[in-house]
Amino acid sequence: MTSPLTSQAVPLAGVLGWPISHSLSPLLHGHWIEHLGLKAHYVPLGCPPSAFQEAVPALLKTGFVGFNVTVPHKEAAANLCDVLTSRAEAMGSVNTLWCEEGRLHGDSTDGLGFLSALPALAPGQNGVVIGAGGSAKAIVYALAQEAGLSHITIANRSTGKAEALCNAMAQHVPHVGFEAMPLEAAQNALHDKTLIVNTTSLGMTGQPPLVLDLQDADPNAIVYDIIYTPAQTPLLKTAQAAGLTTMNGLAMLIGQARPGFARWFGVDAPVTGQEEDLLTTALGTASD
Ligand code: ATR
Repeated sequence: MTSPLTSQAVPLAGVLGWPISHSLSPLLHGHWIEHLGLKAHYVPLGCPPSAFQEAVPALLKTGFVGFNVTVPHKEAAANLCDVLTSRAEAMGSVNTLWCEEGRLHGDSTDGLGFLSALPALAPGQNGVVIGAGGSAKAIVYALAQEAGLSHITIANRSTGKAEALCNAMAQHVPHVGFEAMPLEAAQNALHDKTLIVNTTSLGMTGQPPLVLDLQDADPNAIVYDIIYTPAQTPLLKTAQAAGLTTMNGLAMLIGQARPGFARWFGVDAPVTGQEEDLLTTALGTASD
């Protein structure tokens, strides 16, 4: 699976999803392409699930150098790959595809994006992750592998999913302790945590908030909500009022996009400081 086109062709990349109109990736990659003055294009590619398997090799034959992959194709994309990074293998899904020596490679960069925005933590800290879906899986794996946490609590509405995620992670990262609990128990688990992460849709525009009392949280705790609509969720407002460090999902969104850009276009995507403003304006969240 390699492009027959020569290096004189303008490289094309894009994001495959269904639906795709909401994706911010074309805006972000387009900004970097323009900022760097590259001759390249990044386009949205609406692709129904029934066409995905044929679409990827067909597009690669027309000059595409790679893709981002979003809902609902992330697992199907992993199955198409000849080579997966170890984290993509652990996730069973990919969001970034590229070709090397005729072989299709896949990576899962959400965890990298999450970590790119997180300040370095002192080793041996405890964290709590709310949620046990696809985003939580990528984040827990990245935290366990690379952030030096010694213990991670996973709290979820469906406790069984939190337990399954703990068991899976314990296989991959045996030196970290994992504990599952129901969402209602998260409040009582906060006091000794220096990292509190929301990966659920609670707090997203149109959804009920994630209500946590943070008055007794560790004063050094970081509260990281991966939501970016709104830019400041009720949870982050509560954290700010308690004097805690907060982070939203925009930096993660930018961070997960950069590895693909470097693979496809051979140059690092610069963090110019304009990216968050650009995305915030596009989302219409400037006043949130
Ligand atoms: P993503 O890929 O964004 O992680 P997902 O895999 O669908 O999406 O996971 C969504 C997460 O949000 C899950 O942890 C889900 O809890 P359940 O596993 O119990 O379904 C959580 N979630 C979604 N809506 C919720 C709600 N109203 N209350 C509590 N948790 C919710």
